[in-house]
Amino acid sequence: MSDTAKYRSYSQFEEFLHNFYSLSQTARIHSENHTLVLEGIEKFTESINSCMDDESLTFKISNDQLYVDDEKLAYNRTTKNLFDNIIRYYDTRSLDGVRLLESVKQASAKEILAFMRLLDISGQQPEPLTWLTDGLAAENIQWVELIKKTEIPQDEESYKSKAKRRERARKDYTCAKASVEEVAQKIKDGKGEVGVRKTVRVVQDMVTNLIEDDEVYSAISTLRVFDDYTYTHSVNVAMLSMCIGRRITLSRRNLVNLGMCALFHDLGKIEIPSEVLHKKEKLNVSEKKMIEEHSLNSSRLLLKLKASPDSKARLLVPMFEHHLKYDLSGYPHADWKKPLTLFGKIISIADKYDTLTSSRAYRKYLLSPDRALGYMFDRAGKDYDPTLIKVFINIMGVYPVGTLLRLDTGELALVVSSPSRDFSKRPLVCILEKENDGSYKKREIINLDERAPETDNYVREIIETYHPSTLGIQPVQHIFSRN
Ligand SMILES: [Fe+2]
Ligand SMILES: [Fe+2]
Repeated sequence: MSDTAKYRSYSQFEEFLHNFYSLSQTARIHSENHTLVLEGIEKFTESINSCMDDESLTFKISNDQLYVDDEKLAYNRTTKNLFDNIIRYYDTRSLDGVRLLESVKQASAKEILAFMRLLDISGQQPEPLTWLTDGLAAENIQWVELIKKTEIPQDEESYKSKAKRRERARKDYTCAKASVEEVAQKIKDGKGEVGVRKTVRVVQDMVTNLIEDDEVYSAISTLRVFDDYTYTHSVNVAMLSMCIGRRITLSRRNLVNLGMCALFHDLGKIEIPSEVLHKKEKLNVSEKKMIEEHSLNSSRLLLKLKASPDSKARLLVPMFEHHLKYDLSGYPHADWKKPLTLFGKIISIADKYDTLTSSRAYRKYLLSPDRALGYMFDRAGKDYDPTLIKVFINIMGVYPVGTLLRLDTGELALVVSSPSRDFSKRPLVCILEKENDGSYKKREIINLDERAPETDNYVREIIETYHPSTLGIQPVQHIFSRN
């Protein structure tokens, strides 16, 4: 390697990347004659001239490291934000980088700007790479070669398996819902002892898939559809409970027990008349008593299931406890002095979160997922086990999947992925655009952690959070759909 190359790696290469990325951002915001755009193009061209000493200049991302002409660039405090932004920017566009050919030196400002805009807009396309390739051909831009992300096979593999896991979780959800519904119906019909073998198998499958990917499971409670509460609630509570159980490293067998318990925690509600269960007005004394007895009735109805006395014994107490609260001030009022069981504490957290964020028509207060977490955190040590509530918030992230956000750009965004293990990071969102018919259309995916290279400020700030149903939005339509 020549001395010049060494020198370039720590100054001009870095500057080249900075100018390249800045121009793509400036070109997005400003018109073609804007001073910042013209200056940006000039700086970009200067960088190319000073960096390109062969026939081409290649910028490439490999294993989260940036390379210019095979020179690995130093990742340090000054470059971290820029590099992180660049990696995300190219990742959204299915690219690992670009190779600029020598003819770029003859490219006009108009052509460079056209390239930057195509590159930028490709991030909003369902097939960014195909779209960008076609766009470059249409503009007759021949001085750039795209380095496709598929050049790293394991990434492609992980993308595919992620989609597969999501599909499996979705199937688990449907099967669990159908299964718990069937059992509840058989009990209602008074058909004697009701078999739960099928349900156990479904829960076992859920555990297998959860162990592989708990992120998909924690997000899946957003699958809820507005007018379908009773059994989706049971499945949500089961999935969220199992996520907590998994995070505190419960054994596989215990996860299955916890899942079964959570799935049937509200079984006692089948005995409450629908008009009482769904009453919007204040409940009278006897109605309140009826509601407050449902956890006790869940435990009683559990005895009607065909299962070993041992397994029934394990599930009986947590079911009874799920509204008792950590300090035992909840219901049913009983002379119960024993601290809650671990399952009871877990299920009460999952149950409350799903209740607070569910959008049943008869709910008086509807909290956005992040506010529901805040509400529950404020009651740690009183209503909920303080350690488990922290575990739960850690799983869900500060802005859980399905939270609707208003950004300072005026855009409306739906959280599609929340960095659950790192609170310093901000979520991945999809921008929603209102259509003429009042519905919302999914636009590009954006990382709210992105910062402007010039100021180091976030490109977009969160102004307000909402529950998606406030605007009639069903997150499932946007999060789990391909387009
Ligand atoms: Fe309940
Ligand atoms: Fe419940």
